[in-house]
Amino acid sequence: MTDLLRAEGLSAFYGASQILFGVDLALKQRHTLALLGRNGAGKSTTMKTLAGIVPARGGRIFFADRDVTHAPAYTRARLGLAYVPEDRQVFPEHSVEDNLLIAAKSGPDGRRDWTLPRIFETFPLLANLRSRQAGRLSGGEQQLLVIARALMGNPLVLLLDEPSEGLAPIVVATIGKVLRELGASGATILLAEQNMHFCSRIAEEALVIDRGRVVHRQDTKGLAGNEDIRRRYLAM
Ligand SMILES: Nc1ncnc2c1ncn2[C@@H]1O[C@H](COP(=O)(O)OP(=O)(O)OP(=O)(O)O)[C@@H](O)[C@H]1O
Ligand SMILES: [Mg+2]
Repeated sequence: MTDLLRAEGLSAFYGASQILFGVDLALKQRHTLALLGRNGAGKSTTMKTLAGIVPARGGRIFFADRDVTHAPAYTRARLGLAYVPEDRQVFPEHSVEDNLLIAAKSGPDGRRDWTLPRIFETFPLLANLRSRQAGRLSGGEQQLLVIARALMGNPLVLLLDEPSEGLAPIVVATIGKVLRELGASGATILLAEQNMHFCSRIAEEALVIDRGRVVHRQDTKGLAGNEDIRRRYLAM
């Protein structure tokens, strides 16, 4: 199977300080890949470089058979790369429904698999909150909303940056359930996380990143039993 998204030897900087050192990753269509690493390991920088928000100073990025290394973020978005940042920004004054509708468009292939009714079927919690102002939602509800909003654009790939961060276990479980359902329905997801347990039931494979380098790759089941790697790189 071909890779839908691939990075080869990616390097990135903030000013003069180098953050990514030759990151390689490959995401196959209909797969969920976890990018695991502790605080400051370079997960968000990797996501931002893939999305085109941080420039790649070295290496190459291929998306849907195109070289997008130097393509602006809006071009990548139009090609079907949806980036959900870790800060969960919603339009706070607008309703849940308006937050979703504002993002509605057909995908790069012209398909509209995701519509408001399907979103509300997949996210029943959001259906119940459809008239609520988004700024009044809890952190977990906002997280569900930003994932759902990304889906309204019918993307080919979802880049999800730490969706479980800072949320109560019960909410994390709800988000996990949604992501498993998305995966089962054929979505392609790159999931950056610190929480290995959260990922192990969602992603088939994990890359471990540390100080801007991919230091390990393994199937998530195997990684759960790999004490040495967990202790060295994942702080758990
Ligand atoms: N805008 C910035 N300017 C300068 N340095 C930055 C900036 N953003 C991040 N860094 C640094 O880059 C490194 C990688 O940060 P990054 O945000 O990619 O890590 P992360 O794995 O996402 O961590 P976290 O789990 O805290 O979200 C860290 O050392 C961080 O301090
Ligand atoms: Mg981060």
